[in-house]
Amino acid sequence: VLAEKGNYRHFMQKEIYEQPEVVGHTLSGYLDPVAGEVRPREGIDFSAASRLLIVGCGTASYAGQIAEYWFEALAGLPVEVDIASEFRYRKPAFMPNDVALFISQSGETADTLEAMRMCKAAGLTTIVLVNSPLSTMAREADIVAPTMAGPEIGVASTKAFTCQLGSLAALAVLAGVQRGRIDAAEQASHVTRLMGIPGLMAQALRIEDQINHLAGELAQASIVLYLGRNEFFPMAMEGALKLKEISYIHAEGYAAGELKHGPIALIEDDVAVIVIAPYDELFTKTRSSIQEVRARGARVIAITDDLGAAALDGEASAIITLPRAEGLAAPLVAAVAVQLLAYYVAVHKGTDVDQPRNLAKSVTVE
Ligand code: G6P
Repeated sequence: VLAEKGNYRHFMQKEIYEQPEVVGHTLSGYLDPVAGEVRPREGIDFSAASRLLIVGCGTASYAGQIAEYWFEALAGLPVEVDIASEFRYRKPAFMPNDVALFISQSGETADTLEAMRMCKAAGLTTIVLVNSPLSTMAREADIVAPTMAGPEIGVASTKAFTCQLGSLAALAVLAGVQRGRIDAAEQASHVTRLMGIPGLMAQALRIEDQINHLAGELAQASIVLYLGRNEFFPMAMEGALKLKEISYIHAEGYAAGELKHGPIALIEDDVAVIVIAPYDELFTKTRSSIQEVRARGARVIAITDDLGAAALDGEASAIITLPRAEGLAAPLVAAVAVQLLAYYVAVHKGTDVDQPRNLAKSVTVE
């Protein structure tokens, strides 16, 4: 299939815009909205799992880190997330009922593939969450859990990431049901919320103009720090990764609660801080991080929703207001904002967005 950019300037932009559709497509493979249930998947059984190991590289590993919060909270299933290149060399201690889940867009990343082979050889059930159905990992895994993002051309992953999140959210609900933590009514409400994600992502895409406006200024920053709590901590790391990959600005993602343990020392005039702060139960804590960095002269952009925007009332230098999203939906909506921000900063800098220097779409040699 010859991929076409259509009316878009870059593949990355096109892929960001495709998300409501492809995430919806991915979710419909996992959910039965009429029954209000997650469809069981052949061979996937978390009921007796002692632990879920999640392994991937780059953006895929951040999807895994977000899912860690979900599997633990919804299913009481202990999770360990690892970067494949570390996991495969660190002689992990397995338990007999460990289930191993590998996440890869391409299904060809050398370290992830070898980590999967190692788990298979150790006798664990291996599941691969993969976007390329004909890939090596799809062939070799015990169980394939597909994402339906379609071909992703931009080197920096966008739609494959949110499709991974959609599948992982559904699997976390499934794990909760299988482990007796989620009853029928709760399952149905998760399914309704998940089905609402494409609509929320489509609404989120309307912040494009706001973001384009902020990006000009952000392009001048020498360091950009991303902060978040809970699932928005790995999302902060993903935001930082996107920005550094395509705009070449040094960026770091940090847990907001770690601010005082290091990154606050970096704050100077040309440091920008992006705080992902949806109006949830940790909002007031994240808000105090905003106040702390602002007081030290950083420019702060808050990514929040209408309630968060009202509560912040002038405390941030700028606010990106996303549609309100609850629970499992919230990270997918926030992803749109960090992706668009990185994209527009790169456009302002005039970099090669789809083919950033030194990076490859798929790292098939170590
Ligand atoms: C490269 C790409 C990233 C991707 C990572 C893992 O670094 O630039 O966008 O997240 O590889 O790739 P995979 O195909 O295993 O998801």
